[in-house]
Amino acid sequence: MRKQYVIGNWKMNLAWEEVLDLCGELKDFMHSLPKTISIGVTPSSPYIPVVMPLLPAHIKVGSQMVSAMESGACTGQVSAKQLDSLGTVFTLIGHSESRALWNESDQELAQKVSQSLETQLEVVFCIGESLEVRESGDYLSFLMHQIKAGLFHLDAKQMKRVILAYEPIWAIGTGKSAQPNQIQEVHQALRGMIATQYGEEVANSFSILYGGSVKPENAAGTFALEDVDGALVGGASLKAQSFAAIAEACVSQKSI
Ligand code: 13P
Repeated sequence: MRKQYVIGNWKMNLAWEEVLDLCGELKDFMHSLPKTISIGVTPSSPYIPVVMPLLPAHIKVGSQMVSAMESGACTGQVSAKQLDSLGTVFTLIGHSESRALWNESDQELAQKVSQSLETQLEVVFCIGESLEVRESGDYLSFLMHQIKAGLFHLDAKQMKRVILAYEPIWAIGTGKSAQPNQIQEVHQALRGMIATQYGEEVANSFSILYGGSVKPENAAGTFALEDVDGALVGGASLKAQSFAAIAEACVSQKSI
């Protein structure tokens, strides 16, 4: 059985008082979830160390960003070592919003992955095509390029500390999730690409999350898909009740 994750990406939302409220509500709503599901949230960087003791221990805290540099004169950056030293468990890398906003190159993303895996951090590597690429029909080779450029320099042992998140850009924040058949097609293809590079054993235990307008209403249908191993949730993770409902749908669909 592959590890199942439901991760809330808070993005650049929530003032401090709202973070406090959300942490309190998460304690109430999430306490009955089994430990077999991995739950995570990614607050904005300054909140990371203060949020940790406010959350139930089984909700892991991750970072939305990490530097490609190791340390030193990099004003505005946060290094993997610094995040690791705070007790941060994982970091997102390659989210479409940061790829676009900061013009992150393939090489820089690959470097961020390597820097992170030098520490105890796990990597949630995000990929996804734009509407234009989807409509061109060439989306699988586009995604293959993103994986190859960002991850295929890793050996199999390192790859076991990576989680992939497929987030079609056209489904992010639009309220419109991809259709179940579209999601399964891509996830199955991604697992096949990993199998070709690293073998069946790595591919079969490799978690691939879906992200893009996951909500309580479409969560069960998404988690029912064979090659979906959880979700990376944006908007619906900002309310404890909807985030908990998504996590519960994962537990029940995956029978964990
Ligand atoms: P939404 O769930 O708001 O579409 O965001 C998805 C996302 O970008 C998670 O990283």
